[in-house]
Amino acid sequence: MSPQEVLAALNELLEAERAGAWVARQSASEAGDEAMKALLQDIQHDEVRWCGMLMRAVRTLEGEPSSAVGDFRRKALAIADLHERLVFLNKGQAWVVRRLERLIPEVGHAEVKAELEAMLAAHRHNIARAEAF
Ligand SMILES: [Fe+2]
Repeated sequence: MSPQEVLAALNELLEAERAGAWVARQSASEAGDEAMKALLQDIQHDEVRWCGMLMRAVRTLEGEPSSAVGDFRRKALAIADLHERLVFLNKGQAWVVRRLERLIPEVGHAEVKAELEAMLAAHRHNIARAEAF
């Protein structure tokens, strides 16, 4: 990957995480079940954290962070049933895992790479948690 392709991949992930944060927040506010609400709030918290990390990573690599929200938000919020939406959210998280697995070997900057590895581990953990739920 060229440096421009790495930046484009980071911005694509940023837009996806921003969409995920919106979806988790909206879904948590709709959830009647306390365990589901807590799970969605934890996911939202994580998504916001990774948005911040990705914006810093783009700046570190001398790019401009995207301010767009991924189309995932519209698609996910169109699903009325919260359990079905959670399944869709988990598919989105799995997409993020695949993107990170491909991107991480291409990143030379040690700090950015370590942050992306932490994001990968957290996503794997959240996927397992949501599946168990
Ligand atoms: Fe995510």
